[in-house]
Amino acid sequence: MIVLLAGIIVLHLAVLVLFLISTVVNSWWYFSDSNSLDIWQNCTWLEFWNCESYTTNEWLQAVQAMMILSIILSFLSLILFFCQLFTLQKGGRFYLTGIFQLLAGICVMSGAAIYTVQYPHIHGERYSGSYGFAYILAWIAFPLALCSGIIYVILRKRE
Ligand SMILES: *[C@@H]1O[C@H](CO)[C@@H](O)[C@H](O)[C@H]1NC(C)=O
Repeated sequence: MIVLLAGIIVLHLAVLVLFLISTVVNSWWYFSDSNSLDIWQNCTWLEFWNCESYTTNEWLQAVQAMMILSIILSFLSLILFFCQLFTLQKGGRFYLTGIFQLLAGICVMSGAAIYTVQYPHIHGERYSGSYGFAYILAWIAFPLALCSGIIYVILRKRE
């Protein structure tokens, strides 16, 4: 049981770290080694990184909201897990924890999906550049969050 719990917590922390990295790292869209965009800023290398917010496009705001929401939900889910670990009856299931983690996964998926569909409207570049690794991390975080949410739903509390 201890090994299982440790594994579950490590998976949850990994998901949370992926959410955080993809939210703050400056690489949602990559133009060149000296210019990339994240969901907050346009950064250009001019002897040092020069960053400025580039748009208040509502699609971008939706992506920002989804990413922030996924971090909050996943964090709440982790707290709920520890609460339920001590309060659940033997044989009880971690439904609440699982539901929060699944919702976090759905949020990150929505954020990344909105970005995929709307990036030409967000930064007006149809053909130049490519998706950056923060965007890819968001897509990797999505199935991991779903897995960990499903594990919580299936998991039964043992002594
Ligand atoms: C980002 O900033 C650079 C340098 O100021 C500019 O050339 C580029 O058009 C900007 N990109 C976007 C998407 O605003």
